[in-house]
Amino acid sequence: MCSLFNPLKIREDFPILKKTFNGKPLIYLDNAATTQKPRQVIEAVKRFYEEFNANPHRGIYSLSLETTRVYEEARRKIARLINAGEDEVIFTRNTTDALNLAARMVLKKMGKGDAVVLTEMEHHSNLVPWQIISKERELEMSFIPFDENGYLDLHEAERLINDRVKAVALVHASNVLGTINPVEKIAAMAREVGAYTIVDAAQSVPHMPVDVKKLGVDFLAFSGHKMLGPMGVGVLYGRREVLEELEPVFGGGEAISEVRLRETRWRPPPWKFEPGTPNAAGVVGLAAAVDYLDSIGMENVRRHDIHLLRKAFKEMEEIRDVKIYGPLKPEDRAGLIAFNLSDIHPHDLASYLDQHGICIRAGHHCAMPLHERLGVPATARASFYIYNTEEEVDALAEALRNALEFFNA
Ligand code: ALA
Repeated sequence: MCSLFNPLKIREDFPILKKTFNGKPLIYLDNAATTQKPRQVIEAVKRFYEEFNANPHRGIYSLSLETTRVYEEARRKIARLINAGEDEVIFTRNTTDALNLAARMVLKKMGKGDAVVLTEMEHHSNLVPWQIISKERELEMSFIPFDENGYLDLHEAERLINDRVKAVALVHASNVLGTINPVEKIAAMAREVGAYTIVDAAQSVPHMPVDVKKLGVDFLAFSGHKMLGPMGVGVLYGRREVLEELEPVFGGGEAISEVRLRETRWRPPPWKFEPGTPNAAGVVGLAAAVDYLDSIGMENVRRHDIHLLRKAFKEMEEIRDVKIYGPLKPEDRAGLIAFNLSDIHPHDLASYLDQHGICIRAGHHCAMPLHERLGVPATARASFYIYNTEEEVDALAEALRNALEFFNA
């Protein structure tokens, strides 16, 4: 049992964790892909449609004003989680949407020959948008490499982030290596040369305290569904001065203060970046998720991840032919472990574990260049959250030992 909080108690709030799959209790270890939802979040979404549903910021009748109130209250709560101002939180569909939006926003300040710096460990969502944009605008792309232990090479970062660089886009916690990158240091390098910093925080905000002011970044993106919230709602934090200075990428209703046939005046941020009817129920559901995490404390969420990581490492070290990728120090990584077991293909391993009720992800995890750099086409990945227990880590280790025999590996 973990001493910080009782995951068994927490599990009672998650209806899906009571289900069985393949005749076995569900052991859900794919939290880096999406987390399960507590009834508090499910209830909040249901309550929104039962009690508050109108279009926020549109009507002047009482119900719509009430919708606007709960929508903006949710924004305040979500802003507080990352120490942002409420006018610095833009709602999007997910992290990918937020990262694309940020890239398109800063693109307007970039031109032929300018450079963008990424890392070799980016998720496709922070890589592909820049490939598209770089082709369009003839930008140069360069990549901060990582070493054999999964740490970024900061000397190379220093060298690459030069006067021609207009944007530095990097992942906070890698969804494969788990590495928690020194975003604060890299953002300082970017500031020195006047470049924007854009951070993919999909795997960090749900798992640890994140303070955008302390990190000193211009943009930071995350998803609701990886932190107990509903699918279809994400956040782009943007530093106030930057949001004031930059132009919207998409135009439409409610982002404007005045429209003439040939020109438009924008509302102030964040609304100028939120055209169209928002996913208000999703936003309210995400606020309920933030309440739930607040009641546990993000420090404790982080400690629980480290606790399970430590246990999993200990167990996996004793299994023959396990190769773990990324830093071996639990304190340096997010609560996920990508690995390979002997020569068993990760897809075969994931199917085998599924027969035992254990859900892990297998494949390239939307990070093909990272896998190319590791020299493997795929990995298996177990990722933890607040409802996972030591017993589930034991069950995973036991199943991996049995898999070696089953596959005769
Ligand atoms: N980005 C998510 C993952 O790593 C989907 O699984």
